[in-house]
Amino acid sequence: MAGPKQREYVVAAVGATGAVGEVLLRVLEERRFPVGELRPLASERSVGSRVRFRDQELAVELARPQAFDGADFVFFAATGSLSKELAPEAVRRGAIVIDKSSTWRLQDEVPLVVPEINGAAVEKHSGIIACPNCTTIGFVMALEPLHRAAGLKSVVVTTLQAVSGAGRPGIDELKAQLAAPTRAEAPEPTVFKAPIAHNVVPLCEHFLENGYSSEEMKLLHETRKIMGLANLEVSMSCVRVPVPVGHAATMLVETERTLSPEAARAALAAFPGVELIDDPSTNRFPTPADVEGRDEVLVGRVRRDLGSDRIWLWQVSDNLRKGAATNAVQIAEEVLRRGLCE
Ligand SMILES: NC(=O)c1ccc[n+]([C@@H]2O[C@H](COP(=O)([O-])OP(=O)(O)OC[C@H]3O[C@@H](n4cnc5c(N)ncnc54)[C@H](OP(=O)(O)O)[C@@H]3O)[C@@H](O)[C@H]2O)c1
Repeated sequence: MAGPKQREYVVAAVGATGAVGEVLLRVLEERRFPVGELRPLASERSVGSRVRFRDQELAVELARPQAFDGADFVFFAATGSLSKELAPEAVRRGAIVIDKSSTWRLQDEVPLVVPEINGAAVEKHSGIIACPNCTTIGFVMALEPLHRAAGLKSVVVTTLQAVSGAGRPGIDELKAQLAAPTRAEAPEPTVFKAPIAHNVVPLCEHFLENGYSSEEMKLLHETRKIMGLANLEVSMSCVRVPVPVGHAATMLVETERTLSPEAARAALAAFPGVELIDDPSTNRFPTPADVEGRDEVLVGRVRRDLGSDRIWLWQVSDNLRKGAATNAVQIAEEVLRRGLCE
């Protein structure tokens, strides 16, 4: 005999036509999130265009307050200013907002959540739950197992970030520059601050007065908030590389108690959502190409620093999936699991 029918939810996706939005729809399908009605929303530019959800072509509508009437969940994957303007409107109409932008992440009353690490934080939400930056998510997923094993003291990290981290315009800029017959004929950069094809650019987003980029400061502050380590030392450089999808990071980690590479590997391999790929004898290590389309954070190159007890490691994650869409859907699942959306 069939059991009681599971409740289904009205879900709105703001930015459904973007790089993250498109993956969000795929992830909702794959994970069988109980969607009764899906409302794809975007700007005037996309109104009337269609997106695929399950076996249907759905018309994109304008993201405006009335589009949230009766919605249970609203995912925002558009711009920070749009989240600032419209997220409170969605909350006012009774929806739970899961926001991919950086607008709300550091507000005290807004949980900033990576479910494997601090899923319980969703309990404290007052309407908006923030999803961390794509770079931060892979980073904390690799740090948390080491923190639980031996206490974290400091980290030095250099990230190597894919162009899709800057959305569809970033992907298009790389493609257009790669398609040019010569470098001299390549289109001028508009998304990135230097040519990205055949190049490496030590700036993600924009510079702040302190000489760091906005991306680097997000990595520092979001990491401290998610891990509940207000004084964690993080020394960071964020670099854009001509890779379509998949952010990488090389990390030097100092722990409170000495951690052997073997113990670090064991802790990483046992952590949900992390997969260890680390065998120098067979040249096995993870790359962005390996992680594209996957939800796991892949870790390798675990070794002791030659001059200290610190541990080096290398981590890659799909910035559009675990770095964005998958983590956002996992947050919604956490909300349901905890009975917070009746
Ligand atoms: N890309 C990543 O790896 C990543 C990872 C984590 C977080 N994020 C964040 O996720 C958000 C989306 O990023 P993305 O990479 O998907 O960008 P994207 O490819 O440029 O897509 C942007 C989306 O936002 C919509 N949009 C823009 N302005 C709008 C407006 N005024 N009203 C309604 N819709 C509007 C666009 O709709 P139209 O098609 O109508 O223009 C499009 O659907 C950003 O906040 C970004 O910081 C991105």
